[in-house]
Amino acid sequence: MLRLSAFCAISLLLLFAGLLGVDAHGRPSPWSKGAAGRWHNDLEEAAPSRELLLELEQQEQQLELDGTINRRAPRAAVTVSASPSLIAKNGDTVTVSWSGVTKVQADDWIGVYSPSTSEHSLYIDWVYVKECETASQGFGNVTFELVNMRKDYGFRYFSGNTVLTQLAQSAPVEFVNKNEPTHGRLAYPGDPTTMRVMWVTNEDKTIPTVQYGTSAGILNMNMSGTSHTYRASDICSPLASTPSPVLFIDPGFFHDVLLTNLAPSTLYWYRYGNDATGWSAVANFTTAPQPGKNTPISFVVYADMGTYSTGPGAVATSERVLSHLDDVDFVLHVGDLSYALGRGYVWEWFGALIEPIATNKPYQVSIGNHEYCHLLGGEKDPSHAAGNGFHPSWGNYGDDSNGECGVPTHNRFHMPDNGNSVFWYSFDYGSVHFLQFSAEHDFLPGSDMYKWIANDLASVDRSVTPWIFVSAHRPAYCSENYMGDYNVSLYLRAALEPLMQQYKVNIFFSGHYHSFQATCPVMNGTCSGTFDKPTAPVHLMVGMSGASLDNETYMNVTWDAFHDQAFGVAYVHVHDANSMYFEYRHNDNDGVAWNMTLSNWAML
Ligand SMILES: [Fe+2]
Repeated sequence: MLRLSAFCAISLLLLFAGLLGVDAHGRPSPWSKGAAGRWHNDLEEAAPSRELLLELEQQEQQLELDGTINRRAPRAAVTVSASPSLIAKNGDTVTVSWSGVTKVQADDWIGVYSPSTSEHSLYIDWVYVKECETASQGFGNVTFELVNMRKDYGFRYFSGNTVLTQLAQSAPVEFVNKNEPTHGRLAYPGDPTTMRVMWVTNEDKTIPTVQYGTSAGILNMNMSGTSHTYRASDICSPLASTPSPVLFIDPGFFHDVLLTNLAPSTLYWYRYGNDATGWSAVANFTTAPQPGKNTPISFVVYADMGTYSTGPGAVATSERVLSHLDDVDFVLHVGDLSYALGRGYVWEWFGALIEPIATNKPYQVSIGNHEYCHLLGGEKDPSHAAGNGFHPSWGNYGDDSNGECGVPTHNRFHMPDNGNSVFWYSFDYGSVHFLQFSAEHDFLPGSDMYKWIANDLASVDRSVTPWIFVSAHRPAYCSENYMGDYNVSLYLRAALEPLMQQYKVNIFFSGHYHSFQATCPVMNGTCSGTFDKPTAPVHLMVGMSGASLDNETYMNVTWDAFHDQAFGVAYVHVHDANSMYFEYRHNDNDGVAWNMTLSNWAML
């Protein structure tokens, strides 16, 4: 369910304004951020019983007879309908029309349900009826863009925010094809003669296939792959393991096809699916170049994006990235991906949000606290960490995934296989060696991941990939006044700066804080050289891509080159072995808010 167009019989010009406004109107969303800053489900309260509703109705009738209240609008005539009742494809719109209301109340609203039989309290989206331009006339319509979650949708008209009184409901809305290929995405496996294609359907009885070729009209090659899924019982703990329309839902089957024997630096056209379940639209990708000392590359990097449920920032980021897609080779999303936090339907939204990007450019992800951190059920952790993961006394590692413990991420994103799946891995792309690790796992010297990082860095041939970019979700440098996170950053420095110094790492990308910050070249808290002549890594924190922005103050530190708290996206253009350009653009105007040209200290 995408709330892309929650507007009511108003012009397209106001469509996006409608989106911006929905969350601000005060109706509690299915999930809201509690006072303690932890996500919780406002819908854990049971729906009102039928007896209670009858009682309330009788009370209201008595009050009306007494002349104590103005009777609400006659309700018997309220109708809700949804059209079309059959949705042709993922992302198509449905128009929900309501009528017969003599007087719209301030707390009248339309809830969105999937499946259509869900309990009243388990809506996945909603809009206030009063937002409709024609509300005063007793009718209106709302347009929603639907994500194919392989089950039907229903729409209900309610009055009341605390006691939900259903006044009307629509007939179910179905997708024509529940096996429609969705969640299409590419991943770079680490070899320029390969590309990985993944997508989702509702079944695993047919052979997932990619047809491809070097011209759009001639997909004369094909490759098949494998299918897998995960169940509630595979997930570490509640809430993520709790079956519910607003928590664990059947994720469908993930299809995974590795294309091999491709030519490097070559444009391919492709589609995925099969004759039995249907095919995707034709898209294209360009294979990676052979790694080479002076091979230029470009990529997008951001973290903490989220999806529609985290507000308009994520949508704006995806639109900005799409507008620059021709300028880049791939995307790095450094953790905190969907902010599903156990809500399966949010993973569905995220899949739909990134699909236009990820079906054209490899989408490389790393793990964040909101994908992984958990307190129970560690035996199911797909990273095979000991116990229930990393919970040092000096850290602020809690249950930030609501029990997901990486299971949805591990199943949805197949990254290079040279480390520990999506949790840590590396790959060469052009003139750069990329290393993504998990700051949610034990990174201290002696740990398995630390040893892997050290070995991987030692193996880099700087005559082939003269640049090394490291990324992890949590920063080693950020001067915002969040002391729990700052304390972790000090441990990251202590553990990993000796390696970054020894192997002359050029950049450390991170997120986690919802803001942007760049450092000088820095080691042990002290600026070391300049961007022209660095003698230490530069740290770039790019957590400003969609989740609600920080508003904390900053400490006074010497290594802060730039910081701000605005939504945006960062781009990197590596020119050759010696020079690269970085820019951070704001989403609101696509203007460059900060940039730098950086020399390669491994080559000086
Ligand atoms: Fe985070």
